[in-house]
Amino acid sequence: MRHHLVFALSALLFMAVVATTSLAQTAAPQAAPADRARSAALFAKIATVLEHPRCLNCHTSTDFPRQGDDRHQHIMQVKRGTDGGGHPALRCTTCHGKSNSPSGVPGNDPWRLAPLTMKWEGLSVGEICRSLTDPNRGNMTLPQLVHHLGEDRLVGWAWNPGVDLDGKPRQQPPLTRPQLMAVVTEWIATGAACPA
Ligand code: HEC
Ligand code: HEC
Repeated sequence: MRHHLVFALSALLFMAVVATTSLAQTAAPQAAPADRARSAALFAKIATVLEHPRCLNCHTSTDFPRQGDDRHQHIMQVKRGTDGGGHPALRCTTCHGKSNSPSGVPGNDPWRLAPLTMKWEGLSVGEICRSLTDPNRGNMTLPQLVHHLGEDRLVGWAWNPGVDLDGKPRQQPPLTRPQLMAVVTEWIATGAACPA
C-alpha cells in the first residue's frame, strides 16, 4: 500500500518536472512563429552560397573532390584519403600551392576536402542547415560558424578563385562575403531556424 503511494507521488513529481521543462522550452525567446519562418527563409539565402560549386566542390559526399561549375569528378583519380588531403602517394599539395597559380591550379592553405561529417552535396537545404546547427554532430558552434564563414581563408578563396586551366576566371558565389555575413547575422538574430 505504502509502496503504491510512494510510486504515485514520484510519478506525479516526474510529470510536474516534465511539464515545467516543456513550458520553459516553449517560452524560449526565438520561438515566435513569424521569426522562425523569416529565419528559415534567411537560411535559404545563405544556402545559395553554400551550394555554389566554389563551396560544394570541397564539401562533397564522395571520396573525391569535384571541379568546375559542372562539378565533374576531379581529374587524375584524386581521392580524399583519410584526412581530406589526398592519398599519401598523391597529396593535394603536390599540385595545389598556397595561392592560385596563373596556370589554372587553384591554391590556398591548407588545401584539402571538408570531412564527410561536413558534406553538403546531395543534402536538401534543411538538411544542410541541421547539419550545421546540430550540436551532436561535433562540428561548429554558432559563434565558431560565424567566425569561420567571415574569416576562414579557405572560405575566402571562393571570392578569389583565380582562373581555370583555360585561363577563364572562375565564377564567384551569388552573394559577396559581406552580404553573406549580413544575412548570417540576421539568421542568428531571428533564432537560426532551419527550413523543413
Ligand atoms: C579547398 C576546399 C574548401 C573549399 C573551397 C571550401 N571549404 Fe568549407 N571546409 C573545408 C574544410 C577542410 C573544412 C573543415 C575545417 C576545419 O575542420 O577547420 C571546411 C569546413 C567548413 C564549414 C564548417 C562546417 C560544419 O559543419 O561545421 C563551413 C561552414 C564551411 N566550410 C563553409 C564554406 C563555404 C561557405 C565555402 C564557399 C564559400 C567553403 N566552405 C569552401 C574545405 C573547403
Ligand atoms: C595532379 C595534380 C592535382 C592534385 C594531386 C589535386 N588537384 Fe585539385 N586541381 C588540379 C587542377 C589542375 C585543377 C584545375 C582544374 C580546372 O580548373 O579545370 C584542380 C582543381 C581543383 C578544385 C576545383 C575548384 C573549383 O571550384 O573549380 C578542387 C575543389 C580541387 N582541385 C580539390 C583538390 C583536393 C581536395 C585535392 C586532394 C584531395 C586535389 N585537388 C588534388 C590538380 C590537382
